[in-house]
Amino acid sequence: MAHQMSPLKLFLSLLLVWFTVRRSTESDLWSIVLATMAASAGLIKVGAAGGRHYGGGDGVGVGVTTNVNDCFETYLQQSRNASNTYATAYRDCHVFDVDKRLLYAEEQQPTREGVTKAVDEMCTAFRDCAERESDLAFFQCNRNNSYKNIYTLMNVYLNSSAAIVELEKKYQEAEKEMLLCFIAADKQYLNSTAKAYVQLSRCLKGG
Ligand SMILES: *[C@@H]1O[C@H](CO)[C@@H](O)[C@H](O)[C@H]1NC(C)=O
Ligand SMILES: *[C@@H]1O[C@H](CO)[C@@H](O)[C@H](O)[C@H]1NC(C)=O
Ligand SMILES: *[C@@H]1O[C@H](CO)[C@@H](O)[C@H](O)[C@H]1NC(C)=O
Ligand SMILES: *[C@@H]1O[C@H](CO)[C@@H](O)[C@H](O)[C@H]1NC(C)=O
Repeated sequence: MAHQMSPLKLFLSLLLVWFTVRRSTESDLWSIVLATMAASAGLIKVGAAGGRHYGGGDGVGVGVTTNVNDCFETYLQQSRNASNTYATAYRDCHVFDVDKRLLYAEEQQPTREGVTKAVDEMCTAFRDCAERESDLAFFQCNRNNSYKNIYTLMNVYLNSSAAIVELEKKYQEAEKEMLLCFIAADKQYLNSTAKAYVQLSRCLKGG
């Protein structure tokens, strides 16, 4: 029957929207909602066309048209709901990720301050050497500071290396969690969309 093709087409268009969105990033959040609404707008038109077909062609009463419209109306609400839920879940995944990264930055703050302080002190000491008038004092100062700051540089190197390893691991972990979060959102969205479609199919068959 002609009216059975339309919901399938719309369901496929929703799936298409999903696939498109899955390849995109956060800025496309609103395109999910807008694209789904566009698909829903198409749904209304198809619903109305189906009604006309029923009313005029088959000579079936207005009651059937109303039922068909009810089926589509329910589907429309469920689709919109699914899209809104998806948009919220998707955004939450991003907020969660940003919060995590802020927390990591906070955790690294003492190490960062330690490195900054050590390097500042070292630079100040060498700048002081440059201001010595006597050559002897200038070279003594540089020699003393070079020797002393071998350990500073070593610690800056070691502390920075450790921080890099830790941060890279944490960022990877955050990335993994965000991807799993997206997949959970996808699962919920596809589940609700599929459920809505199955319900619409049943509704149109009068079951
Ligand atoms: C929308 O989704 C929420 C959460 O899944 C559910 O509780 C609510 O009943 C749904 N509303 C409609 C109109 O489907
Ligand atoms: C390097 O880390 C150690 C241990 O956390 C700390 O005691 C030291 O002050 C740090 N040094 C620098 C240059 O950051
Ligand atoms: C360098 O160190 C030597 C011995 O440790 C000390 O006598 C001298 O005063 C220092 N010179 C400067 C410029 O710091
Ligand atoms: C949606 O999820 C529920 C449980 O969470 C499951 O029972 C149902 O079969 C799923 N529906 C689809 C269409 O995947």
